[in-house]
Amino acid sequence: MKKVEEPFILVIFGVSGDLTKRKIAPSLYNLFAEGYLPENFAVVGFSRRIATRASLHAWIERGIENYGDLRSQELWNSFKEHLYSIQADLYDKDSFRRLRELLIELNDQWNCNGNLIFYLATAPSHFPTIVENLGEYNLNKGLDHGWARLVIEKPFGLDLESAITLNKKIRRFFAEEQIFRIDHYLGKESVRNLLIFRLANTMFRPIWNRRYIDHIQITVAETIGVDKRAEYFEQTGALRDMVQSHLLQILALITMEPPTSLHSDAIRDRKVELFRSIKRIDPAKVNEYTVRGQYDAGRVVTPKSGDHVVVGYRSENGVDPKSNVETYVALKLEIANDRWDGVPIYLRTGKRLRKRVGEVVIQFRTELFGTFRDREVLPEPNLLIIRFQPERKIILKVNWEPPGIDSEMERLILESHESESTRKEPRAYERLLLDIMRNKSKLFIRQDEVEECWRVIMPILEGWKRHPPPKFPNYEAGTDGPKIADEFIERDGRKWYPLGADE
Ligand code: BG6
Repeated sequence: MKKVEEPFILVIFGVSGDLTKRKIAPSLYNLFAEGYLPENFAVVGFSRRIATRASLHAWIERGIENYGDLRSQELWNSFKEHLYSIQADLYDKDSFRRLRELLIELNDQWNCNGNLIFYLATAPSHFPTIVENLGEYNLNKGLDHGWARLVIEKPFGLDLESAITLNKKIRRFFAEEQIFRIDHYLGKESVRNLLIFRLANTMFRPIWNRRYIDHIQITVAETIGVDKRAEYFEQTGALRDMVQSHLLQILALITMEPPTSLHSDAIRDRKVELFRSIKRIDPAKVNEYTVRGQYDAGRVVTPKSGDHVVVGYRSENGVDPKSNVETYVALKLEIANDRWDGVPIYLRTGKRLRKRVGEVVIQFRTELFGTFRDREVLPEPNLLIIRFQPERKIILKVNWEPPGIDSEMERLILESHESESTRKEPRAYERLLLDIMRNKSKLFIRQDEVEECWRVIMPILEGWKRHPPPKFPNYEAGTDGPKIADEFIERDGRKWYPLGADE
């Protein structure tokens, strides 16, 4: 990766929020420390709460200390030279006039060629106002002959209609090419690798279809609860928060047709095609295709706090004690195309589960083992496990007969050995920030993808509205999820692999 060539000013709206502290600031700093940022850049923190440049510096420094690596005082001192603050209000026009003045001044001082990046790290309800105010002060076009880019975080709406409305508002001032919609899973090296692993190995090409694959399981299990985001989560739940975005993106990378190149639009076109071919779930049959869960109190083990007792979802701060919001969801999707017809894809995600793990398990068919019908020990189905977190691993399970006169067929486990401890994965946000600075949009979500993903989700939401959820809470924190999720997959004669399928 090369240094970013073009200078820029990055404006962070919501600089006093969690996202800046945990992700944006530590990632920017790492990019700076590792020499990726150009000589000429400035960062402006826009917020109501932070009154002075010194307090912005203190806030960002704390964020880096807690969630990143401050490395050395000297390095921090040179980084903070680039950081400025403006105490301002998103809803006050004059604040944007002052912002424009500051940007003109910094543009002269740092020779930024008029290039501006606006990062909306606020609650999504503020997006339309920010964009409109930027438009009013012509900041959506950059300064002089520069460019402007807009970065927004999910959720992109709370349903199809609100996603379309939000986009219309944004598109009044920013063209699609200027917009970078972040799904941070696409910035994870190991998620990006799904596509490469699948497509760069000819051996997988001919077997990547319904003739050879029995079914696919995609799991993103978390040990954390809703943390401090109860207000947000109460509006979304796991289906909107995780499935509409991260899980469907993973599903697309695994099942889409090979793109004609690795260019942004070639990949995104294929993803959209795939989303369109996912069969819509009939709302009347929603309980045949989905399972909802909500965690009760229990014990979990997290890297930060070790083994500890946790409260149930309904007792979390900010959660309605009668809340019916799901913290776990499992669903079965089917893809209506030549490649995948008849291959179920099971997705599951949940909070406060036994283990943090993100992985894809591909189970191959066994009907092709006719040759072995007379043997006592039948071959096990081949399994390909692609784990993307917490460690990156590829595991392939095959059958063989080990050495020995009397030996019987056994399972051979082929496993990659690269792990977090041997090679640190660059943080997703570093990769994404760099791509925004370099104007590469491959890892960002195009509006038609957002809409197509909502079209997959809407019938489920509709069905859930009609059919009340099971009695919540229905799984203990620290377990693998609700019992009904096991019954759900067993109805198809299959089983979930344990969290961490090689256990
Ligand atoms: C976010 C969700 O997009 O992803 C959170 O809003 C979730 O609810 C998080 O915890 C998971 O991300 P990661 O990178 O920790 O797997």
